[in-house]
Amino acid sequence: MKIEPFLLERFFARHEFSVRHLLCASDCETISLGELLAMEPGATEAFNALRLGYTETAGGADLRREIASLYEGIAADDILVFAGAQEAIFVFMNAVLHAGDHVVVHSPCYQSLGSVAAAAGCRVSPWPAEAGRGWALDPDDLAALAWTDTRAMVVNFPHNPTGYLPEKERFIAIVEAARSRGLLLFSDEVYRFLEYDAGDRLPAACEIYENAVSLGVMSKAFGLAGLRLGWVACRNHDVLRAMAELKDYTTICVAAPSEFLARLALRQRSGFLARNLEIIRGNLALLDAFFARHEGLFSWQRPRAGPVAFPAVRFAAASDDFCAALLHERGVLLAPGSLFGAAGRHFRIGFGRRDLAAGLEELSAYVNKNL
Ligand SMILES: Cc1ncc(COP(=O)(O)O)c(C=O)c1O
Repeated sequence: MKIEPFLLERFFARHEFSVRHLLCASDCETISLGELLAMEPGATEAFNALRLGYTETAGGADLRREIASLYEGIAADDILVFAGAQEAIFVFMNAVLHAGDHVVVHSPCYQSLGSVAAAAGCRVSPWPAEAGRGWALDPDDLAALAWTDTRAMVVNFPHNPTGYLPEKERFIAIVEAARSRGLLLFSDEVYRFLEYDAGDRLPAACEIYENAVSLGVMSKAFGLAGLRLGWVACRNHDVLRAMAELKDYTTICVAAPSEFLARLALRQRSGFLARNLEIIRGNLALLDAFFARHEGLFSWQRPRAGPVAFPAVRFAAASDDFCAALLHERGVLLAPGSLFGAAGRHFRIGFGRRDLAAGLEELSAYVNKNL
Protein backbone atom coordinates (compact mmCIF):
# COMPACT_ATOMS: atom_id res chain seq x y z
CA MET A 1 0.00 0.00 0.00
CA LYS A 2 1.22 3.47 -0.90
CA ILE A 3 -0.12 6.17 1.40
CA GLU A 4 0.86 9.81 1.69
CA PRO A 5 2.51 10.93 4.93
CA PHE A 6 0.05 12.01 7.62
CA LEU A 7 1.05 15.68 7.84
CA LEU A 8 -0.42 16.43 11.28
CA GLU A 9 1.04 13.30 12.86
CA ARG A 10 4.49 13.97 11.32
CA PHE A 11 4.25 17.53 12.68
CA PHE A 12 3.39 16.18 16.14
CA ALA A 13 6.15 13.58 15.91
CA ARG A 14 8.60 16.49 15.49
CA HIS A 15 7.24 18.86 18.12
CA GLU A 16 4.67 17.41 20.52
CA PHE A 17 7.00 16.20 23.24
CA SER A 18 9.65 18.91 23.00
CA VAL A 19 7.71 22.14 22.58
CA ARG A 20 7.27 24.42 25.62
CA HIS A 21 3.61 25.31 25.01
CA LEU A 22 1.47 22.81 23.13
CA LEU A 23 -1.50 24.93 22.11
CA CYS A 24 -2.92 22.72 19.38
CA ALA A 25 -3.68 19.42 21.11
CA SER A 26 -7.10 17.97 20.30
CA ASP A 27 -7.55 15.86 23.41
CA CYS A 28 -8.69 16.83 26.89
CA GLU A 29 -6.61 16.91 30.04
CA THR A 30 -5.52 13.44 31.04
CA ILE A 31 -5.20 11.87 34.48
CA SER A 32 -2.76 9.44 36.06
CA LEU A 33 -3.27 5.71 36.37
CA GLY A 34 -3.44 6.11 40.16
CA GLU A 35 -6.15 8.78 39.92
CA LEU A 36 -8.23 6.59 37.64
CA LEU A 37 -7.91 3.52 39.87
CA ALA A 38 -8.80 5.62 42.92
CA MET A 39 -12.21 6.37 41.40
CA GLU A 40 -13.67 3.02 42.46
CA PRO A 41 -13.08 1.02 45.64
CA GLY A 42 -11.30 -2.24 44.88
CA ALA A 43 -10.15 -1.11 41.41
CA THR A 44 -6.44 -1.15 42.29
CA GLU A 45 -6.63 -4.73 43.59
CA ALA A 46 -8.64 -5.83 40.55
CA PHE A 47 -6.15 -4.16 38.21
CA ASN A 48 -3.23 -5.87 39.94
CA ALA A 49 -4.97 -9.22 39.53
CA LEU A 50 -5.66 -8.67 35.82
CA ARG A 51 -4.49 -11.52 33.57
CA LEU A 52 -2.35 -10.32 30.68
CA GLY A 53 -3.37 -12.77 28.00
CA TYR A 54 -5.07 -12.02 24.68
CA THR A 55 -8.44 -10.30 24.89
CA GLU A 56 -11.51 -10.95 22.74
CA THR A 57 -11.04 -9.77 19.16
CA ALA A 58 -14.30 -7.81 19.12
CA GLY A 59 -13.51 -6.36 22.56
CA GLY A 60 -14.59 -7.96 25.86
CA ALA A 61 -18.34 -8.37 26.27
CA ASP A 62 -18.40 -6.21 29.43
CA LEU A 63 -16.52 -3.42 27.69
CA ARG A 64 -18.78 -3.60 24.63
CA ARG A 65 -21.86 -3.46 26.87
CA GLU A 66 -20.46 -0.37 28.59
CA ILE A 67 -19.74 1.27 25.21
CA ALA A 68 -23.19 0.33 23.89
CA SER A 69 -24.74 2.12 26.87
CA LEU A 70 -23.43 5.40 25.40
CA TYR A 71 -26.00 4.98 22.59
CA GLU A 72 -29.75 4.49 22.22
CA GLY A 73 -30.83 1.20 20.65
CA ILE A 74 -27.29 -0.15 20.23
CA ALA A 75 -26.31 -3.55 21.69
CA ALA A 76 -22.92 -4.98 22.64
CA ASP A 77 -22.95 -6.99 19.38
CA ASP A 78 -23.11 -3.75 17.41
CA ILE A 79 -19.72 -2.66 18.80
CA LEU A 80 -16.24 -3.51 17.54
CA VAL A 81 -13.27 -2.30 19.60
CA PHE A 82 -10.02 -1.00 18.09
CA ALA A 83 -6.62 0.24 19.18
CA GLY A 84 -7.69 3.89 18.91
CA ALA A 85 -10.01 5.61 16.48
CA GLN A 86 -7.20 5.71 13.96
CA GLU A 87 -7.13 1.94 13.56
CA ALA A 88 -10.89 1.90 13.05
CA ILE A 89 -10.61 4.51 10.27
CA PHE A 90 -7.87 2.54 8.59
CA VAL A 91 -9.76 -0.73 8.85
CA PHE A 92 -13.11 0.67 7.67
CA MET A 93 -11.63 2.29 4.58
CA ASN A 94 -9.67 -0.83 3.64
CA ALA A 95 -12.17 -3.51 4.60
CA VAL A 96 -15.46 -1.97 3.50
CA LEU A 97 -14.59 0.33 0.61
CA HIS A 98 -13.29 -0.96 -2.72
CA ALA A 99 -10.83 0.44 -5.23
CA GLY A 100 -12.79 2.63 -7.64
CA ASP A 101 -15.52 3.55 -5.13
CA HIS A 102 -16.43 7.20 -5.05
CA VAL A 103 -16.38 8.70 -1.55
CA VAL A 104 -17.40 12.18 -0.39
CA VAL A 105 -15.31 13.41 2.55
CA HIS A 106 -16.02 16.38 4.84
CA SER A 107 -13.11 18.79 4.48
CA PRO A 108 -10.89 20.26 5.83
CA CYS A 109 -10.39 17.16 7.94
CA TYR A 110 -8.31 14.93 10.10
CA GLN A 111 -6.23 13.67 7.22
CA SER A 112 -6.74 9.92 7.51
CA LEU A 113 -10.47 10.34 6.78
CA GLY A 114 -9.52 11.17 3.19
CA SER A 115 -6.02 9.76 2.72
CA VAL A 116 -6.75 6.17 3.71
CA ALA A 117 -9.70 5.99 1.30
CA ALA A 118 -7.52 7.46 -1.47
CA ALA A 119 -4.74 4.97 -0.73
CA ALA A 120 -7.32 2.16 -0.89
CA GLY A 121 -7.97 3.25 -4.49
CA CYS A 122 -11.17 5.20 -3.86
CA ARG A 123 -11.97 8.37 -5.78
CA VAL A 124 -12.29 10.97 -3.06
CA SER A 125 -14.27 14.21 -3.47
CA PRO A 126 -13.93 16.75 -0.69
CA TRP A 127 -17.16 18.17 0.73
CA PRO A 128 -15.84 21.62 1.55
CA ALA A 129 -16.84 23.46 4.71
CA GLU A 130 -16.15 27.19 4.44
CA ALA A 131 -15.42 29.78 7.11
CA GLY A 132 -17.82 32.19 5.38
CA ARG A 133 -20.68 29.75 6.01
CA GLY A 134 -19.66 29.20 9.65
CA TRP A 135 -18.01 25.93 8.55
CA ALA A 136 -21.47 24.47 7.92
CA LEU A 137 -22.10 21.59 5.56
CA ASP A 138 -25.18 22.05 3.42
CA PRO A 139 -26.95 18.81 2.46
CA ASP A 140 -28.02 20.50 -0.79
CA ASP A 141 -24.34 20.44 -1.83
CA LEU A 142 -24.69 16.71 -2.31
CA ALA A 143 -26.80 17.19 -5.42
CA ALA A 144 -23.55 18.14 -7.17
CA LEU A 145 -21.12 16.06 -5.08
CA ALA A 146 -22.74 12.63 -4.86
CA TRP A 147 -22.82 10.72 -8.13
CA THR A 148 -24.70 7.59 -9.11
CA ASP A 149 -21.64 5.50 -8.23
CA THR A 150 -20.92 7.21 -4.88
CA ARG A 151 -20.58 4.52 -2.21
CA ALA A 152 -19.88 6.34 1.03
CA MET A 153 -19.93 9.66 2.81
CA VAL A 154 -17.54 10.63 5.62
CA VAL A 155 -18.44 13.34 8.12
CA ASN A 156 -17.02 14.50 11.44
CA PHE A 157 -19.16 16.32 14.05
CA PRO A 158 -18.14 17.98 16.36
CA HIS A 159 -15.54 18.80 13.76
CA ASN A 160 -11.78 18.79 13.90
CA PRO A 161 -10.33 21.33 13.20
CA THR A 162 -13.18 23.89 13.01
CA GLY A 163 -15.28 22.93 16.05
CA TYR A 164 -18.40 22.99 13.86
CA LEU A 165 -21.48 21.22 15.19
CA PRO A 166 -24.59 21.25 13.02
CA GLU A 167 -28.05 21.83 14.44
CA LYS A 168 -30.00 18.57 14.84
CA GLU A 169 -32.29 19.24 11.86
CA ARG A 170 -29.32 19.79 9.59
CA PHE A 171 -27.56 16.67 10.84
CA ILE A 172 -30.68 14.61 10.25
CA ALA A 173 -30.94 16.07 6.74
CA ILE A 174 -27.33 14.99 6.10
CA VAL A 175 -28.07 11.46 7.33
CA GLU A 176 -31.23 11.36 5.22
CA ALA A 177 -29.23 12.48 2.19
CA ALA A 178 -26.98 9.44 2.73
CA ARG A 179 -29.95 7.12 3.24
CA SER A 180 -31.85 8.33 0.17
CA ARG A 181 -28.79 7.64 -1.99
CA GLY A 182 -28.07 4.27 -0.36
CA LEU A 183 -24.66 5.45 0.89
CA LEU A 184 -22.64 4.09 3.75
CA LEU A 185 -22.12 6.87 6.26
CA PHE A 186 -18.89 6.94 8.23
CA SER A 187 -19.54 9.36 11.07
CA ASP A 188 -16.49 10.35 13.09
CA GLU A 189 -17.94 11.26 16.48
CA VAL A 190 -14.76 11.22 18.55
CA TYR A 191 -15.57 14.67 20.06
CA ARG A 192 -19.13 13.70 21.01
CA PHE A 193 -20.09 14.48 24.63
CA LEU A 194 -18.12 17.75 24.49
CA GLU A 195 -21.13 19.89 23.51
CA TYR A 196 -21.06 23.09 25.61
CA ASP A 197 -24.83 22.83 25.91
CA ALA A 198 -25.86 19.18 26.36
CA GLY A 199 -29.08 20.01 24.51
CA ASP A 200 -27.04 20.46 21.33
CA ARG A 201 -25.83 16.84 21.37
CA LEU A 202 -26.65 15.10 18.09
CA PRO A 203 -28.01 11.60 17.91
CA ALA A 204 -25.23 9.20 16.97
CA ALA A 205 -25.47 8.38 13.26
CA CYS A 206 -25.66 4.65 14.05
CA GLU A 207 -28.80 5.25 16.11
CA ILE A 208 -30.75 6.80 13.25
CA TYR A 209 -29.34 5.04 10.19
CA GLU A 210 -28.65 1.32 9.93
CA ASN A 211 -25.85 1.80 7.37
CA ALA A 212 -23.99 4.36 9.47
CA VAL A 213 -20.78 3.64 11.33
CA SER A 214 -20.28 5.83 14.41
CA LEU A 215 -16.67 6.23 15.52
CA GLY A 216 -15.85 6.76 19.20
CA VAL A 217 -12.71 6.79 21.33
CA MET A 218 -11.38 7.24 24.86
CA SER A 219 -8.80 9.82 23.70
CA LYS A 220 -10.76 13.05 23.38
CA ALA A 221 -13.68 13.70 25.75
CA PHE A 222 -12.18 11.34 28.36
CA GLY A 223 -8.56 12.49 27.92
CA LEU A 224 -7.29 8.90 27.89
CA ALA A 225 -5.44 8.81 24.56
CA GLY A 226 -2.69 6.63 26.04
CA LEU A 227 -5.14 3.75 26.40
CA ARG A 228 -5.30 3.58 22.59
CA LEU A 229 -8.84 2.38 22.74
CA GLY A 230 -11.55 3.26 20.24
CA TRP A 231 -14.58 1.58 18.70
CA VAL A 232 -17.18 1.62 16.01
CA ALA A 233 -20.92 1.24 16.63
CA CYS A 234 -22.92 -0.04 13.67
CA ARG A 235 -26.11 -2.05 13.17
CA ASN A 236 -25.02 -3.37 9.76
CA HIS A 237 -23.23 -6.57 10.75
CA ASP A 238 -21.81 -7.17 7.25
CA VAL A 239 -19.80 -3.99 7.81
CA LEU A 240 -18.68 -5.13 11.28
CA ARG A 241 -17.75 -8.60 9.97
CA ALA A 242 -15.60 -7.16 7.18
CA MET A 243 -13.86 -4.88 9.67
CA ALA A 244 -13.27 -7.71 12.16
CA GLU A 245 -11.70 -9.83 9.40
CA LEU A 246 -9.17 -7.11 8.59
CA LYS A 247 -8.49 -6.36 12.24
CA ASP A 248 -7.10 -9.89 12.53
CA TYR A 249 -4.21 -8.57 10.45
CA THR A 250 -3.67 -5.28 12.27
CA THR A 251 -3.85 -5.67 16.08
CA ILE A 252 -6.04 -8.80 16.63
CA CYS A 253 -7.24 -7.41 19.95
CA VAL A 254 -6.62 -4.48 22.27
CA ALA A 255 -4.37 -4.56 25.34
CA ALA A 256 -5.97 -6.07 28.46
CA PRO A 257 -4.96 -3.13 30.75
CA SER A 258 -6.56 -0.70 28.29
CA GLU A 259 -9.81 -2.67 28.26
CA PHE A 260 -9.93 -2.72 32.05
CA LEU A 261 -9.18 0.99 32.39
CA ALA A 262 -11.57 2.02 29.62
CA ARG A 263 -14.41 0.14 31.30
CA LEU A 264 -13.63 1.87 34.56
CA ALA A 265 -13.51 5.30 32.93
CA LEU A 266 -16.76 4.67 31.06
CA ARG A 267 -18.50 3.74 34.31
CA GLN A 268 -17.23 7.03 35.73
CA ARG A 269 -18.05 9.01 32.60
CA SER A 270 -20.15 11.74 34.14
CA GLY A 271 -17.21 12.87 36.30
CA PHE A 272 -14.78 12.85 33.36
CA LEU A 273 -17.10 14.80 31.10
CA ALA A 274 -18.02 17.38 33.75
CA ARG A 275 -14.36 17.98 34.59
CA ASN A 276 -13.26 18.31 30.97
CA LEU A 277 -16.15 20.56 30.02
CA GLU A 278 -15.28 22.79 32.95
CA ILE A 279 -11.68 23.07 31.69
CA ILE A 280 -12.96 23.83 28.18
CA ARG A 281 -15.37 26.52 29.43
CA GLY A 282 -12.65 28.22 31.45
CA ASN A 283 -10.29 28.16 28.48
CA LEU A 284 -12.95 29.46 26.11
CA ALA A 285 -13.40 32.49 28.35
CA LEU A 286 -9.63 33.14 28.05
CA LEU A 287 -9.79 32.73 24.28
CA ASP A 288 -12.82 35.01 23.94
CA ALA A 289 -10.93 37.69 25.88
CA PHE A 290 -7.73 37.17 23.88
CA PHE A 291 -9.46 37.40 20.51
CA ALA A 292 -11.54 40.39 21.65
CA ARG A 293 -8.29 42.17 22.59
CA HIS A 294 -6.78 41.38 19.18
CA GLU A 295 -9.84 41.69 16.99
CA GLY A 296 -8.02 43.29 14.07
CA LEU A 297 -5.32 40.62 14.06
CA PHE A 298 -7.34 37.42 14.16
CA SER A 299 -10.79 36.25 13.21
CA TRP A 300 -12.46 34.01 15.77
CA GLN A 301 -15.52 31.81 15.37
CA ARG A 302 -16.45 30.35 18.73
CA PRO A 303 -17.37 26.65 18.42
CA ARG A 304 -20.43 25.06 20.05
CA ALA A 305 -18.61 21.85 20.94
CA GLY A 306 -15.22 20.21 21.28
CA PRO A 307 -11.71 21.20 22.37
CA VAL A 308 -10.50 22.75 19.09
CA ALA A 309 -11.21 25.81 16.97
CA PHE A 310 -9.89 27.15 13.68
CA PRO A 311 -9.30 30.90 13.89
CA ALA A 312 -7.54 32.84 11.14
CA VAL A 313 -4.58 35.16 11.30
CA ARG A 314 -5.15 38.47 9.49
CA PHE A 315 -1.60 39.85 9.55
CA ALA A 316 0.18 37.07 7.63
CA ALA A 317 -0.54 35.69 4.20
CA ALA A 318 -0.28 32.12 5.46
CA SER A 319 -0.75 30.58 8.89
CA ASP A 320 2.30 28.38 8.14
CA ASP A 321 4.54 31.47 8.41
CA PHE A 322 2.83 32.75 11.55
CA CYS A 323 2.96 29.33 13.27
CA ALA A 324 6.63 28.81 12.34
CA ALA A 325 7.63 32.25 13.66
CA LEU A 326 5.62 31.80 16.87
CA LEU A 327 7.22 28.42 17.50
CA HIS A 328 10.68 29.78 16.85
CA GLU A 329 10.34 32.93 18.97
CA ARG A 330 8.10 31.80 21.83
CA GLY A 331 8.03 28.01 21.85
CA VAL A 332 4.27 27.94 21.24
CA LEU A 333 2.86 25.28 18.92
CA LEU A 334 -0.22 26.05 16.83
CA ALA A 335 -1.18 23.80 13.91
CA PRO A 336 -1.39 25.56 10.52
CA GLY A 337 -4.43 24.82 8.37
CA SER A 338 -2.25 23.24 5.70
CA LEU A 339 -2.00 20.19 8.00
CA PHE A 340 -5.75 19.68 7.51
CA GLY A 341 -5.85 20.33 3.77
CA ALA A 342 -6.75 24.00 4.32
CA ALA A 343 -3.73 26.05 3.28
CA GLY A 344 -4.31 29.74 4.00
CA ARG A 345 -4.74 31.78 7.12
CA HIS A 346 -6.51 29.40 9.49
CA PHE A 347 -4.80 27.50 12.28
CA ARG A 348 -5.97 25.03 14.91
CA ILE A 349 -5.91 25.97 18.53
CA GLY A 350 -6.66 23.35 21.20
CA PHE A 351 -8.18 24.22 24.58
CA GLY A 352 -9.00 20.95 26.32
CA ARG A 353 -6.02 21.06 28.67
CA ARG A 354 -5.32 22.99 31.84
CA ASP A 355 -2.15 24.70 30.68
CA LEU A 356 -3.67 26.99 28.04
CA ALA A 357 -3.16 30.23 29.97
CA ALA A 358 0.65 30.09 30.00
CA GLY A 359 0.81 29.44 26.25
CA LEU A 360 -1.71 32.18 25.58
CA GLU A 361 0.47 34.64 27.50
CA GLU A 362 3.39 33.76 25.24
CA LEU A 363 1.15 34.22 22.20
CA SER A 364 0.10 37.64 23.54
CA ALA A 365 3.75 38.55 24.08
CA TYR A 366 4.53 37.56 20.48
CA VAL A 367 1.67 39.64 19.15
CA ASN A 368 2.52 42.67 21.31
CA LYS A 369 6.17 42.59 20.30
CA ASN A 370 5.73 42.01 16.60
CA LEU A 371 2.59 43.95 15.73
C1 LIG B 1 -11.49 13.60 13.97
C2 LIG B 1 -10.53 12.58 14.51
N1 LIG B 1 -10.74 11.30 14.25
C3 LIG B 1 -9.91 10.34 14.71
C4 LIG B 1 -8.81 10.66 15.46
C5 LIG B 1 -7.88 9.58 15.95
O1 LIG B 1 -8.04 9.37 17.31
P1 LIG B 1 -7.00 8.46 18.11
O2 LIG B 1 -5.71 9.22 18.14
O3 LIG B 1 -7.54 8.34 19.45
O4 LIG B 1 -6.87 7.17 17.41
C6 LIG B 1 -8.55 12.00 15.76
C7 LIG B 1 -7.35 12.38 16.53
O5 LIG B 1 -6.95 13.52 16.59
C8 LIG B 1 -9.44 12.99 15.26
O6 LIG B 1 -9.24 14.29 15.52
